[in-house]
Amino acid sequence: MNVRSQIVGCGSYLPERVMTNDEIATFLDTSDEWIAARTGIRQRHIAAEGELTSDLAFNAADSALRAAGIRACEVDLILVATTTPDKTFPATATRVQAMLGAEGGPAFDLQAVCTGFIYALAVADSFIRLGQVDTAVVIGAETMSRLLDWEDRSTCVLFGDGAGAVVLKSSNHHAPSGSGGRENLPRGILSTHLHADGRIGNLLQTDGGPSSTGTVGTLKMSGREVFRHAVANLASVLEEALAANGMTPADIDWVVPHQANRRIIEGTIRKLGLDEDRVIITIERHANTSAASIPLALDEGVRDGRIQPGQVLLMEAMGGGMTWGAGLARW
Ligand code: UT7
Repeated sequence: MNVRSQIVGCGSYLPERVMTNDEIATFLDTSDEWIAARTGIRQRHIAAEGELTSDLAFNAADSALRAAGIRACEVDLILVATTTPDKTFPATATRVQAMLGAEGGPAFDLQAVCTGFIYALAVADSFIRLGQVDTAVVIGAETMSRLLDWEDRSTCVLFGDGAGAVVLKSSNHHAPSGSGGRENLPRGILSTHLHADGRIGNLLQTDGGPSSTGTVGTLKMSGREVFRHAVANLASVLEEALAANGMTPADIDWVVPHQANRRIIEGTIRKLGLDEDRVIITIERHANTSAASIPLALDEGVRDGRIQPGQVLLMEAMGGGMTWGAGLARW
């Protein structure tokens, strides 16, 4: 018998305010045509003044717990993947814990920029498989708008704010004798695959930080280089995830990708030989919400009925660090 992490609910939250490409074009030398053609983005949500990453994270977690039918007092572990914490410390996750009314279990933030949700999912899955916790809330939450240089058209048009969350619960899986088919796959996380290459960390970074400048800094990116690495690294980690589970692309019902650029998503799908109608794409409305983009897309696919129980999901992301990773799950 194996202990597995089952995803028992998901939720998300987007700030009310929507900023369209046309609005950005009123204060920057850019256009809806350029942004939409190069990235697929048409609008993004922007957190209100005083609305913090923890507020977004709390709303997403609360909605995920409701969907799972689990009370906050049953939650052991709270993990927030974020690049935009409320404060340098304490961890945003501890404020979310207090807001939810959960008590006593571990709560911490995890920083892997746009790959943060996959990293956090892997960490929570390990805690559960090792029997250290029974129930975990994994959140990706970002207020990227606070980290942008709003005079730099090559970066500020790309990002948005939002949060998404999943609730993981331990479940016992009886491994079938013999190889078994897809119906014998356990529900929940099947595997996660994480990578980083710090030698090229300067391609996507902030120009500040507590220990270097004493300021938060703003986001700087060598877009073309990051694009190149994204396409290559995603292709290899997807191959790795499929091989680890003895699967082929035909076994995947839904790809739930990080939403950085529509052209990156299309390139990845093409390499897998999958049709776009098996991909949950939100970039047009959400832009790149960093660690929040996968759980936001997942929640959309679940709530509108595209993702059905028993289906196999492939999640993938890459971001600053550089970091990249993938996760396979059976819904
Ligand atoms: O989630 C983390 C991972 N991040 C990513 O995956 C992002 C990866 N990179 C990208 O998505 C793309 O590289 C960008 C969307 C950032 C840029 O697209 P690109 O096709 O690589 O454009 P570029 O940077 O090569 O710039 C082409 C031209 C430049 O003008 P010149 O030098 O050719 O005259 C830019 O100045 O487009 C110009 N440009 C813009 N024009 C209008 C750059 N940004 C804008 C803009 N509006 N917002």
